[in-house]
Formats: sequence, structure tokens, C-alpha cells
Amino acid sequence: MAGEGLGLAGRAAIVTGAASGIGRATALLLAEAGALVVAVDVEARGLAALSGEAPCATIAADLSDAPACARVVGEAGALHGRIDVLVNAAAILRRVAIADMDDALWHRLMDVNLRSQFALCRAAATAMRPHGGRIVNTSSTAAFNGGAKNSSAYAITKGGSVALTRVLARELGPRGIAVNGVCPGGIDTPMGRQGLPEPEWSRHYETNVPLRRAGQPEEVARAILFLASDWAAGISGHVLDVEGGLMLR
Ligand SMILES: NC(=O)c1ccc[n+]([C@@H]2O[C@H](COP(=O)([O-])OP(=O)(O)OC[C@H]3O[C@@H](n4cnc5c(N)ncnc54)[C@H](O)[C@@H]3O)[C@@H](O)[C@H]2O)c1
Repeated sequence: MAGEGLGLAGRAAIVTGAASGIGRATALLLAEAGALVVAVDVEARGLAALSGEAPCATIAADLSDAPACARVVGEAGALHGRIDVLVNAAAILRRVAIADMDDALWHRLMDVNLRSQFALCRAAATAMRPHGGRIVNTSSTAAFNGGAKNSSAYAITKGGSVALTRVLARELGPRGIAVNGVCPGGIDTPMGRQGLPEPEWSRHYETNVPLRRAGQPEEVARAILFLASDWAAGISGHVLDVEGGLMLR
């Protein structure tokens, strides 16, 4: 079995954003490692395709709605009798200059990207209370380097995700819940490719990233699995860059 020694076999894991990109790669890898995956996304068709490829339960839900987040955790907990791992990967990116960013779009980005992570952490932490668990939040290098052009609200949600990870690591650590994050750089997913066509997209990463390429979703998934696993037993409050060295100064 893949991931032997990670201690993920039989663990009940919620993965959001599982219909595409990094969340999908994480759900597949967790299932391969023997975890009991509950894949969550607003895109029901993508979830159906995922469950055709790997053993996992699926829940279609719009996570911009905080009560929906609580419902998802309740349903996932009922499926396997417990929740051991939460991976927050669902998000949207909208590139809009600040002058054109209306309040509705601001709130949409906050609700989908940040409030969902908060609401899912809140509900999952309660479900994990009896036995502890591990949470991995997906942030972005945008939280630290200003992100791609015209992505102010998105970058702010990702800064919030880092703060959420650190705050909850302190708050939930005494209850045996470790909270960590990942900061992907440019990753080859539908979101990662948004706004920059080929060949400029590839050229951008060949020029700006020390490893001379964009990342693959599976590379981020492996970092997430590590942070969700027993191998990271002593790590909490850490945000791991997965960006090919982009953030080196
Ligand atoms: N791809 C990159 O270059 C990159 C870089 C930095 C950070 N990230 C972060 O990684 C995570 C995964 O991104 P990705 O590149 O795989 O993107 P993606 O667009 O491939 O996947 C995101 C998934 O989130 C789902 N989603 C969107 N809104 C939702 C909602 N309201 N409710 C439920 N699900 C919803 C989408 O349906 C989609 O399946 C995100 O948090 C993103 O911000 C990505």
C-alpha cells in the first residue's frame, strides 16, 4: 500500500475542493494510503469522476455557506463514526483591479476561501475533540508576495488562512489537534493556469522559479499527506511552501 508508515490507513479524512487540482490529487493519494476519504466540492460531476477512480464517499456542497460547512462535517462524521483529518483546499481566484472590486465579489472570495476554512475547522475541531486529529489548510505564496496581478482579495484570504492555521495550532494543540498549512506557488491546475495562456505560462515559471517549472498538484498533495500523517506528529502551526524555491530571496 502507498504511504505505508504514514499512519493514514483507516483514518477518516475530509478533503474539500476534491473535484479538481490539488484537492483531487490529495483525495486520490489519501485513498491510496488507505484513508477513509470524504470528498467535498460544489462540482458534483467532478466528484462523481473522482469516486470512479478511487474508493471515497462524496458530498456535494457550496462551502461559501457556513451552515453547509457544519452539515458537511456532521454528514462525514456520521459516515465513519469519527473525523481524524481535515484538508481545506476549496477556493476560487478572481483577478480584478481594486478599483473594480465590488463588495459582492469581495464577500464571495472571503466566504468561499476563508470563512469556509474557519467554519470547517470549527466543526471538525468539535468532532475531533475526543481523540485529536490533524488539519491542513491550503494557503498560497500570494499571502506573502502579493500574488499575481489584480488578486488583492484572493491574497487577503490566503493571508487569513495562514493566521487561522497559527491561531488554531495554539488553541487546539492542547486538545491533541495539530493544525498546519501549505503555501503552493504556481501549480498546474485550472486555477493555477487562470489568466496566463501558453506559452507565457510555462515561460513565466521557467524564468522565475529556481526549479525552472511550475509545480504539479500531486507534489502539493504529498506535502499535505505528510502534514496529515504520523510522520508530522511533532509539527503544528507550520506553513510549508511548495513552490520550487520561488520565495527564496
Ligand atoms: N494552483 C495554484 O497555482 C495555487 C497556488 C496557490 C494556492 N492554491 C490553492 O490551492 C487550493 C486548490 O487550488 P487548485 O489550484 O487545485 O484549484 P482548482 O480550481 O483546480 O480547484 C478548486 C476546487 O474548489 C472547488 N470550489 C470552488 N468554490 C467552491 C465552493 N463554494 N464550495 C465547494 N467547493 C468549491 C472547485 O469546484 C474546485 O474543484 C486552493 O485553496 C488555492 O487557493 C493554488
